[in-house]
Amino acid sequence: YKRSREPSDDHNPHKRHGAAVTLATHRQMYERNFPLYKQPVEVGCFSLDSHRNFFNDHRQMRYYVQPRKRPEFNLRDGYTDRFIKRDDGVKERLDHLLKWILANRDQIQNRDKTSSSSRVLGVDFVTWRGHLTKVLTTPYETHEGWLLAASKFGGTIYISEVETEAARTDRESRSERQEEMMYWGYKFEQYTCADDVDGTPDPGGVVNTNEAFCTVVQTRLADHKLLFSGEVDCRVTDADAPPAPACYVELKTSAEICTPKQRSNFHRYKLLKWWAQSFLPGVPQIVAGLRDHDGVVVSMETIQTSKISQLIKKEFNCWKPTVCMNFCSDFLSFVKSVVEEDDPRLVYLFAWDPHRDVSYTVHRDSQYNFIPEWYVKELRS
Ligand code: A3P
Ligand code: MG
Ligand code: MG
Repeated sequence: YKRSREPSDDHNPHKRHGAAVTLATHRQMYERNFPLYKQPVEVGCFSLDSHRNFFNDHRQMRYYVQPRKRPEFNLRDGYTDRFIKRDDGVKERLDHLLKWILANRDQIQNRDKTSSSSRVLGVDFVTWRGHLTKVLTTPYETHEGWLLAASKFGGTIYISEVETEAARTDRESRSERQEEMMYWGYKFEQYTCADDVDGTPDPGGVVNTNEAFCTVVQTRLADHKLLFSGEVDCRVTDADAPPAPACYVELKTSAEICTPKQRSNFHRYKLLKWWAQSFLPGVPQIVAGLRDHDGVVVSMETIQTSKISQLIKKEFNCWKPTVCMNFCSDFLSFVKSVVEEDDPRLVYLFAWDPHRDVSYTVHRDSQYNFIPEWYVKELRS
C-alpha cells in the first residue's frame, strides 16, 4: 500500500520498516520555521557561446547599464530578422555542468575529508538552479507538473529534469504570439546589457539565445550539501560591487500593472517564480521592465530579492518562502531515502502532478539515463 510521507518524519518509527513511497505537497504541512540556508558561494562560472559550445570562463558575462531617461524599448524589434533561437528540442541535461565539474574538481570544497574516497565530490546533490526553482514552487503550483530523474554516482545524487508529455505538447503547439513574447525578455536584456564593463548596449545587434553565462554555487539547505548552476543575466559595473553572486542582477519583463487585481496577481504568481529563481543562487536584485500590450517597455523597477517576502505579506492567503524551502528540504530528504544504489545507469524518476503526491519509478539502462559515460570514466580515473 502507499503511505504518504509526513514531512520531517526522520524519527517516525514506521520509516524503519521501509522508506516512504510518496511525498505529500500540501502547503500547510511545510509551515514551520525557515530552514537553514547557507549564503550561496560562487565556486566558478562558465559560458556557452552562440553554438552552445562550453567555455570554462566568464566570456559571456554582461554588464547592466541603467537607461539614462525614461525607457521606450520596443521589445518586438528584430524578432523577424535579428533573432537566432536556441533549439529547445535539444535536451542538454546536466552535460555543461558536468563539464564544469570535470574542469574544476579542485574548486569544490570537500570539507568531509575522511569520507572523500566514498563521496568523490563531497556534495549531496548536483543539479540546475531551474530544477530547484520548480521544486520550491511545487506547493503552490496548480497547472504544471514535473519529472525529475535522479541517479547516484560516487556518493552524490545528480538530478536532471525530463520533459513531461504536457510540456512537450505545449512547446510544440505555441501560438505565434506566444513565440514572439518569449523573445521579448531576451530583447529587454539586449537593451539593458553591454558586453564590456565600459561598453554600451547595442539594440541593433542580433539576439542569440544560445549564448549564456552561468554561475556555479555551493550552499547547504538543512543537512543537504548542494552544488548547482544557474544562468545569470548580468552584473553591476561599480568598482566597489560585492563579489559574485551578490553583484549579479536578474532581468525580467512583465506586463505593466494598472489595476489592484493585476497587482495582486503579480504578487501571487510572478513574484513567487522571481523570488525562487533569484533567492536560490543569492542574486540580490531584480530589474523589471514593465511593458504594455504591444511590447513597449514603459517603466523600470528594481526589486530587492530579500524584500519580496515583505512585499507579498499584504496579500490574503499568499505564498510563503518558508513553505517553499521546507518543501525543498523534505523533497531532498525523500530523494536521499529513495536513491540508495550508487549506479550512474540506474535512474529513479520522481514524478509530480498538481493536486497529487510526489511518487517515483525505477529504471535501469533506459531512455532516462542522463549521466554520460565520458563523465563516469573521467571522474573514476
Ligand atoms: P522574461 O522572464 O523577462 O519574460 P530569465 O528571465 O529566466 O533569464 O529568462 C529570459 C527570458 O527567456 C524570459 O524573459 C522569457 O522571454 C524567456 N523565457 C524563459 N523561460 C520561459 C518560459 N518558461 N516560457 C516562456 N518564456 C520563457
Ligand atoms: Mg536569464
Ligand atoms: Mg532574466
